[in-house]
Amino acid sequence: MKTLAMLTGGGDCPGLNAVIRAVTRRAIAEQFNVLGFRNGWAGVIRADYIPLTRERVTGILHQGGTILGTSRTNPTDEQLDMITKNLKGLGVDVLVAIGGDDTLTVASRLHQRGQAVIGVPKTIDNDIFGTEQTFGFDTAVNIATEAIDRLHTTAESHSRVLVVEIMGRQAGWIALAAGVAGGADLVLLPEFPQNIDAICEVVKRRQAAGKNFSIVAVAEGFQLEGIEFTQSDKEDSFGHVRLGGIGESLCKIIEKRTGIESRAVVLGHVQRGGTPTAYDRLLGTRYGVKAVDLALAGQSGKMVALKAGEIVGVDLDTVVHEVPDKQTGAMKLRVKNRTVPKDLYDVAKVFFG
Ligand code: F6P
Repeated sequence: MKTLAMLTGGGDCPGLNAVIRAVTRRAIAEQFNVLGFRNGWAGVIRADYIPLTRERVTGILHQGGTILGTSRTNPTDEQLDMITKNLKGLGVDVLVAIGGDDTLTVASRLHQRGQAVIGVPKTIDNDIFGTEQTFGFDTAVNIATEAIDRLHTTAESHSRVLVVEIMGRQAGWIALAAGVAGGADLVLLPEFPQNIDAICEVVKRRQAAGKNFSIVAVAEGFQLEGIEFTQSDKEDSFGHVRLGGIGESLCKIIEKRTGIESRAVVLGHVQRGGTPTAYDRLLGTRYGVKAVDLALAGQSGKMVALKAGEIVGVDLDTVVHEVPDKQTGAMKLRVKNRTVPKDLYDVAKVFFG
């Protein structure tokens, strides 16, 4: 009997349990023994796992989070040796790594060492190169859109500017989609830095037209042109700075410059919480089934991906590239980023002001 193991790494994300269930159900049907490592790569390093049976994955499809737990663990080279040793010791024939850019980077490093691994792209940020959509994004967009809808009430009633800070580190997909769907008056993304004059101009133009309120949707990674804005000095093990605070900073400047009372709302982890949408359950399920199909076909070193409506396998090697480490300058692997294209941002711009 062959053994398939899986793990979930990085931030929690709606739809993770749909993937775990799909991988387990499909693999068991194909006579695999199935294991789930606890808390991402940390679980593989410690050989901390649970058997995944049909009973264990019953009733989890609609649940947020991950029944396996997660962590932001970036294994050292020695820990990668330990991972390989543990996988061998447990008789794991193929490892399914469900995660975002960090988890998939580690999966790619393992693949380059000869380990059979298949990646499943997860992140609410929707910024993974090689796929047209990650699961979790749709749920986050719906949560953020509903928040913007609700914030219109206070903005209009109190004649305020409401700045909504939305997740999105290097890419502003959620802010873009929720901003357009929720009718935000200005959408600010990491991909398109702007200066404060242009931002305040939009608010003032609305004021001059008799609209004494504005909704500004800003992605957490947005950069104000000409202003070096440090959000935090805390970094995770992958070197990512903890973001948060751009909304509050923008809000203060807008109020000072326009004279309109302004407030900031940070949606934060609410965007990752709760039950996944039907779309994310379906996408996660399709990804999970395809991951096992690839394993059955002996096609490791792949990431499942959405391309023109179909679920396909793309080479993990094409999803990553080498970049210099911020601290040491040494080259290291990273998943390439998929950012919001200008033509899509131009659609949002039609509704600015
Ligand atoms: O899942 C990606 C993401 O949502 C980013 O947009 C955000 O910066 C990050 O996770 C924050 O995650 P945490 O607070 O769990 O470290």
